[in-house]
Amino acid sequence: MSKIKLYEGGTLPIEMHRVSIVHPIRLIPVEERLRALDEAGNCSYNLKSEDVFIDMITDSGFNAMSDAQAGAFHLADYAYAGSTTYYKMADKIKEILGKEYFLPVHQGRACEQMLARSFVKQGDLIPTNFHFCTFLTQTRLMGGDLVEFLQEKGLSTVGEDGFKGDYDLEKLEKFLNETPKERVPMIRIEAGTNLIGGQPISLDNINAVSAIARARGIRVLLDMSLVMDNLHFIKTRDEKRKDHTIRQIMREMADAADIIYFSGRKLGFARGGGICMNDHGDYIKVRDNVSCFEGFPTFGGMSSAEMEVMRVGFDDTMDENVVSQGPDFIEYMVEEFKKRGVPVVTPAGGLGCHLDADRFCAHLGKKEFRAAALAAAIYIVSGARGMERGLSSEAPEDSIAPFELVRLAVPRRVYTLSHIKYVIDRVCWLYEHRDMIGAMRWEDESVKEHMFIDFLRPADDWRERLALEYKKANLE
Ligand SMILES: Cc1ncc(COP(=O)(O)O)c(C=O)c1O
Repeated sequence: MSKIKLYEGGTLPIEMHRVSIVHPIRLIPVEERLRALDEAGNCSYNLKSEDVFIDMITDSGFNAMSDAQAGAFHLADYAYAGSTTYYKMADKIKEILGKEYFLPVHQGRACEQMLARSFVKQGDLIPTNFHFCTFLTQTRLMGGDLVEFLQEKGLSTVGEDGFKGDYDLEKLEKFLNETPKERVPMIRIEAGTNLIGGQPISLDNINAVSAIARARGIRVLLDMSLVMDNLHFIKTRDEKRKDHTIRQIMREMADAADIIYFSGRKLGFARGGGICMNDHGDYIKVRDNVSCFEGFPTFGGMSSAEMEVMRVGFDDTMDENVVSQGPDFIEYMVEEFKKRGVPVVTPAGGLGCHLDADRFCAHLGKKEFRAAALAAAIYIVSGARGMERGLSSEAPEDSIAPFELVRLAVPRRVYTLSHIKYVIDRVCWLYEHRDMIGAMRWEDESVKEHMFIDFLRPADDWRERLALEYKKANLE
């Protein structure tokens, strides 16, 4: 992706690819969207994709493949043991991340399960900049817990600090001084962070955390699922690294970690995941769990075809035009929303444009599912599906979620600028009519584990009234 300067002033993010395979999409009428929402229990995760016009729920497994990736699909060696495909992937990991051992698994949370099973025991505590829900769950299932060390700036949805995913180093050191070392099997870094609006962590901060951990002989665990966005932000926001190549930045990050894992659904544009490390003892522990729960270690939970795609996807990731495509579109959305006063998380992060539902729906109470109601309303007025990140999907056991966000994810190379402009337009219409967005309630209060799949019901007929108002606008 690059930005071009317009003759009439301003800049425009422009796609650095052309499209040769397309999937038709359709916009069903607003009445049908209400019906689809009813059937989905007002949860965007439960919507059928055929009822969705623009799918911005996630980028996971939904990024578009390059021609080279599509071609690589047919190179797969499906041998149960010793597959050539595996060794090519392991070589790619060595080349780019500098790690000797590579274990494939079926997706990011499988990495987390393998790591938790291998290293976490009852009572353990794992420092992290911010939690990700699947890692938190896997850690807790093993009897451990996470301790967050995000700096204050990361907990705010406003501000322009370029690296809101940074660790509070002082607090981390204090915690490590006061906690027995045997209770801290690893220190986790998420680069970039998912749940605070896709905000990145700086390379200086990663190196500092790594130095603190290594001085104490504690493993550094790096979650690189969202590293593509983080690479872009280091390249564009870190004065010291602006002349470094993406490959150099990636390697400096990797060198700071003892174990790296990633969701291949994000990094590598394939359906899979991987764990990489240099320590042989750690490798054996994780390998035995992969053998037991995922598959033979040379394919783990992955199909060989997807592994070929992932290998080429790693090369694509070293291309600045590819890593910047998502963040450039996201920045465009954020800037357009800011101009119109629509509350968004700033500065623009990775993964998606995050609407701040606390401010968007300030007329609703904290426990009235502001983000879930906003996600439902966006679907009604646009057919676009975002993802609720708030009380419903994030904090089912607690009464208040740390954030009430609606994520409009921007999968790489999937949507064009006209799709993006359409979504911006409809969200702006909704913002003008925000008072019409009403509350949501749990469908069944007794359900405690939600894992994204919730069933909510509107407090009254606000959805129907909103749909009627939207129809009156005569926009479809
Ligand atoms: C930072 C981070 N870690 C881990 C995961 C889990 O990956 P997966 O969805 O492939 O299980 C995700 C997925 O969104 C993520 O964003």
